[in-house]
Amino acid sequence: MRSACTTSNSTNPPDTRRGPRRSRIEPLDLAVPALPKALEGLTICHLSDLHVRRPRRRFDRLIETLETEEPADLLVFTGDLVADVGYEAATHEVVQRLLRAARPRIGSFCVFGNHDTAALRQRMEHLPIHCLSDSAWRDPQRPLNVLGVDCSPHVMFGDLLAALNAEHAADNAGRLRILLTHRPDWLIPASDAGIDLVLSGHTHGGQCRLPGLRPIYVGDGPWPCRWYSGLFRRGRTQLVVSRGVGDQAMDGLRVFCPPQALRIQLRCDDNPPPPSNGVQVIRKW
Ligand SMILES: [Fe+2]
Repeated sequence: MRSACTTSNSTNPPDTRRGPRRSRIEPLDLAVPALPKALEGLTICHLSDLHVRRPRRRFDRLIETLETEEPADLLVFTGDLVADVGYEAATHEVVQRLLRAARPRIGSFCVFGNHDTAALRQRMEHLPIHCLSDSAWRDPQRPLNVLGVDCSPHVMFGDLLAALNAEHAADNAGRLRILLTHRPDWLIPASDAGIDLVLSGHTHGGQCRLPGLRPIYVGDGPWPCRWYSGLFRRGRTQLVVSRGVGDQAMDGLRVFCPPQALRIQLRCDDNPPPPSNGVQVIRKW
């Protein structure tokens, strides 16, 4: 799927009170065990938790950066695109601009989070993006599967089994399998299912941190979640938890926890870890 966005022009002008300024997209070099040779160097632009209420300078800066940087192969959104009911039009507009700016070579994908609404889901159907709600996309040209579990409020709990069934394959050997999920606590079942890479958000990295103390906010759920941001591993499955682009409660409410957009580049891991049931922290951010 080509992601060149051909939808209508913006209805809301960008907020340029101080003028757009490029934002940094953090690089993450990721070694993946048994990465298919055809996918060596695959790049993924990972955005999470936009929490759109209105146009913001932060989105304009990100869009300008995406426009000027080399396109990634995949663009993925891991939920909480919208902040709340009533902001779907603004969210649609921001996502449309991001799609147009990112120009991913292979395609764009999203899953829904606990803030995403049915009205947003309807609007997203008109954008050039695969919305994976307990489903999977199988690349017909490359050894690549992208799966997604739905964490939106009307679903409550996503259905990984349905996503696995949607791979439509008795044998996924030799294929890279990426799971998109809003909530990071899908790591263990994903690992049991042989998923290679899990991309998530939800926690906002804590959003407000005080040095030496636990984060104040980690999203809803049976937390505190020690996987509040960073790179984790269980066996050969790795989990990325993004700090996210937007903010919960009010725009700009972040303390010692800046927003984060990631550009992940995959390479083959020549020394894969042994099987393990424990979860290792590889890197915190
Ligand atoms: Fe969120």
